[in-house]
Amino acid sequence: MDKFVIKGGAALQGEIPVGGSKNSALPALAAALLTEEPVTLRRVPAVRDIRTMQRLLVDIGSKVDVDGETVRLETPAIVCPEAPYELVKTMRASSLALGPLLARCGRARVSLPGGCAIGARPINLHIFGLEQLGARINQTHGYIEAVAPEGLRGAVVHFDRITVTGTEDLMMAAVLAKGETLLRNAAREPEVADLAQLLVKMGARIEGAGTSTIKVEGVERLHGAEHTIIADRIEAGTFLIAGAITGGDVTVTGCVPEHVGALVSKLQQTGVGVTQPDATSLRVRGGGRLRSVDMTTEEYPGFATDLQAQYMALMTQAEGIAIIEETIFENRFMHAQELARMGANIRLDGKQAIVAGPRELTGAGVIASDLRASASLVLGALVARGETVIDRVYHIDRGYEKIEAKLARVGAKIQRVE
Ligand code: EPU
Repeated sequence: MDKFVIKGGAALQGEIPVGGSKNSALPALAAALLTEEPVTLRRVPAVRDIRTMQRLLVDIGSKVDVDGETVRLETPAIVCPEAPYELVKTMRASSLALGPLLARCGRARVSLPGGCAIGARPINLHIFGLEQLGARINQTHGYIEAVAPEGLRGAVVHFDRITVTGTEDLMMAAVLAKGETLLRNAAREPEVADLAQLLVKMGARIEGAGTSTIKVEGVERLHGAEHTIIADRIEAGTFLIAGAITGGDVTVTGCVPEHVGALVSKLQQTGVGVTQPDATSLRVRGGGRLRSVDMTTEEYPGFATDLQAQYMALMTQAEGIAIIEETIFENRFMHAQELARMGANIRLDGKQAIVAGPRELTGAGVIASDLRASASLVLGALVARGETVIDRVYHIDRGYEKIEAKLARVGAKIQRVE
């Protein structure tokens, strides 16, 4: 198992390019199941979750060709409409196959995800929505078995709570359903809008993606398309915080500034200078005193839960008390104990983490528990005195492409060791 060895103290200087969004590419790959024609996706990040999704699609019946950041998929027929436990347990986004499989061939068998390091993460809302569209669903032996022998039909689906992949799954199911589907209380994340763009290029009729009401008019069939995935806003945000926490001067390039608006606003409140040199770059300049600022995670366009752990690392270096409230997942504070091992003063109280700073962090052996938690440990290590060894970095490889190389290029002392 790989580890990162990080020597803290270097102020990062320079440009860091961001890659395509993992959470946009995952549903886009699943969308290729909706047509027998080729779908070509560009700017697909080479991260582990993407490889897992590609494996799943190959098992289902897709031909997948990867050429750098370009992935070409072709699914002449659905051979096995199933997402097995072995894959779903390593990547919950496998449930994104449910909607497209039901739409394309009228049946799907997908393992229930079970527990997860950041919370329960059930898929009841996906199931509820698909039932509204006429699917019959049984749960047996840890699997969901869904059938729609006469095809899906449009319906109104009002989500009890906002779900990102649930919205994506339902949108993919509805594009080939008979008649009109209205998704209410839909997720407004940029990844949902990006998926809708791809589906429209494939011939789907969708309005309102990116707002909380999405209207889908079902069509008979979809065709092939080419699409470039949007920039990864969480990767961009992580690097902005890296610049801020090290008191450096970092320009994150190839991003969509609007997509990290909530983070930029927080950074500015903490006293970090953030400017936008051009339409696709953000420059962060740290070095001054950091002020503690409270933060609550919210659905987009609020502060992303996927940046909460990284923001907590930043708050360990800020003056005062910051109350960080996690409202999306119930167990997403695993990084707090590890940051505390490095010297942070963090108290957990239910949904809240109370961070008192600034505290000098010192290098220690720590364990990555999930993708974003690992990123926060890397950030903590970048300012810690001495050497930090982060174990189980396979978690970070799920969603960050060569993070160590990108950080090293701007001056971080970070090494991957086996
Ligand atoms: N929820 C339910 N029932 C459902 C679905 C969700 O109760 O059927 C709950 C979840 O347990 C959670 C909340 O609703 O408490 C929101 O979950 P959501 O469904 O929105 O999360 P997701 O779609 O499984 C995506 C991202 C996550 C990101 C969340 C929230 C992908 C592949 N994953 O997950 O990304 O944290 O939205 O923004 O898009 C990550 O990249 O590190 C990551 C975890």
